[in-house]
Amino acid sequence: MVNDKKVLYSGMQATGNLTIGNYLGALKNWITLNEEYECFFGVMDLHSITIRQQPADFRKRARNLLALYIAAGIDPVKNCIYYQSHVSAHAELGWILGCFTYMGELSRMTQFKDKAAKHSDNINAGLFTYPVLMAADILLYQTDYVPVGKDQQQHLEITRDIAQRFNSIYGDVFTIPEGYYGKRGAKVMSLQDPSKKMSKSDENPNGSIYLMDDADTVLRKCKRAVTDSDSEIRYSEDKPGVSNLLEIYSACTGKSIEESEKEFDGKGYGEFKPAVAEAVNSVLEPMHKEHERILKDKSYLDGIIKENNEKARYFANKTLRKVRKKVGFTDIPH
Ligand code: TYM
Repeated sequence: MVNDKKVLYSGMQATGNLTIGNYLGALKNWITLNEEYECFFGVMDLHSITIRQQPADFRKRARNLLALYIAAGIDPVKNCIYYQSHVSAHAELGWILGCFTYMGELSRMTQFKDKAAKHSDNINAGLFTYPVLMAADILLYQTDYVPVGKDQQQHLEITRDIAQRFNSIYGDVFTIPEGYYGKRGAKVMSLQDPSKKMSKSDENPNGSIYLMDDADTVLRKCKRAVTDSDSEIRYSEDKPGVSNLLEIYSACTGKSIEESEKEFDGKGYGEFKPAVAEAVNSVLEPMHKEHERILKDKSYLDGIIKENNEKARYFANKTLRKVRKKVGFTDIPH
């Protein structure tokens, strides 16, 4: 608890171009939940270097991402938006928790297996211990809820296991966090292959709607989206392409799947696909404008970064001090 509010923690990596999947699976829920909880949202730049980054481009992406959180509607005064690499407690707790995590557990992580297959020339130890650092991110802030997409569920489970293991040895040090998954959009699939998750690292750009895509590009991608041979607009397991579009439409408009099905009853893809594009654009366009405006205001953004970094450090160090004491490190002389 912070200020009598439960704590919510989440973040995104500063890699690739964010997709509508990132927005619907995570960011959108952050916006709806941020009034009710004490929120911390990190730009996960430590995690990002598990894949090689080009320094100048990386720096820019990280700043763009931070500005995007604000542009999407997160108030940086009420919420703590910060860079993970600015708070060294993340790396320190990550090391400590690594000593409470088993190789076997980490080897079972599907994201590790996927990324190792994708980057076979650079299967570094950071990629392997990635979930330990993620556990440290979450546990440092005594987090109650973690709003993420379904692809992060396994990482959430290992975080809980590590926290419970630590608590069973040292007493109640960490709050045991729970994942929070939105009702709609928790797993947005590729527009070109609806059996695969929509991903910012997809080689086929037509499979993903990027948050920075302009209206025409969104329309073109929606029109090209893979559907089925019949033209019925119905949510069903045997219609993964249409179901995915319905999911996107419903998440962007706030209408239920049933309402959306009814709206397009008897209509074909010719009407449905442009309507999906319009729904997506109505979310993206205001965000683009806001993003551009915020990025231009250098001193405003720098001020936010400085203030929130101090706030994040304050809370993170509180937990870290407790952990240091519990494991038996000697006090740091002042
Ligand atoms: P990342 O950067 O891959 O993704 C950011 C968020 O977007 C969600 N997401 C999706 N949701 C629905 N459909 C999709 N197709 C889709 N693709 C991505 C992800 O689930 C995530 O919520 N490991 C994390 C970053 C992280 C983190 C943390 C998150 C590091 N430490 C602590 C929460 C708490 C990641 O790689 O997310």
